[in-house]
Amino acid sequence: MFEAARPPHPSEIPDGVAAVDPSQCAEMAHAGSSTPAAPDAADAAAGLAVETAGLTKRFGERVAVDGVELRVPRGSAFGFLGPNGAGKTTLIRMLLGLTHASAGTMSLLGHPVPARRAEALSRVGAIVEEPRFHPHLSGRENLRIIAAARGAEAHARIGPALERVGLAERAGDRVKKYSLGMRQRLGVARCLLADPLLLILDEPTNGLDPGGIQEFRDMVRAMVEREGRTVFLSSHLLDEVEKI
Ligand SMILES: Nc1ncnc2c1ncn2[C@@H]1O[C@H](COP(=O)(O)OP(=O)(O)OP(=O)(O)O)[C@@H](O)[C@H]1O
Ligand SMILES: [Mg+2]
Repeated sequence: MFEAARPPHPSEIPDGVAAVDPSQCAEMAHAGSSTPAAPDAADAAAGLAVETAGLTKRFGERVAVDGVELRVPRGSAFGFLGPNGAGKTTLIRMLLGLTHASAGTMSLLGHPVPARRAEALSRVGAIVEEPRFHPHLSGRENLRIIAAARGAEAHARIGPALERVGLAERAGDRVKKYSLGMRQRLGVARCLLADPLLLILDEPTNGLDPGGIQEFRDMVRAMVEREGRTVFLSSHLLDEVEKI
């Protein structure tokens, strides 16, 4: 990727320490409305999309995530920066209740995780590492399978979601014929079936070329500025986080 070709920025390499340092977080533009697209009373009361305090994960002796403190306002795009092995995926897995924290607390959209994980995740869309699909089915068919489990409202969102990510024209093609960028965008479309207030995306631009990265940035910006969603994404590229 073109950013990777330049010398690493010092802040990308935290002295080889395998931990997410809160100072490595780069907050992106706070552009757009701070009001979610469809707020309800409980949502309005809780002003933060993501909040963590002292969030820590140990694997045996290894500290993968070390005391992370985050306060991500609603209606913002927020990039979480760290090199390979820094703990980005582990942090996201904790937020989603996929792995237990060793210490600390966290909440999504005002709901503590894991205590109220189901409420928290009902308006969250997430991609952890690479989105996976049935390769022999089309993009639209893959979304239909997801929507079938979620109900009629999700089904009605398939068309708009495909439009939103720029895949409407190719939605009838089998996913195995998609480029990586198209699969990443289909992953976002899948998230949109839940009409999420918060999208959590783990390195969504990994492997994309400069054009694909630019398209992704534009899409994130529109979801934040026009739709009032919050986008929380991880990246190992400083440029990526700064430019959104
Ligand atoms: N299940 C596990 N068991 C033991 N160690 C783990 C486990 N998952 C992650 N780790 C360790 O935790 C640290 C953080 O890993 P993680 O995958 O969260 O990093 P990352 O920032 O997402 O890296 P990348 O940029 O390569 O995706 C690494 O040292 C990794 O080896
Ligand atoms: Mg990772």
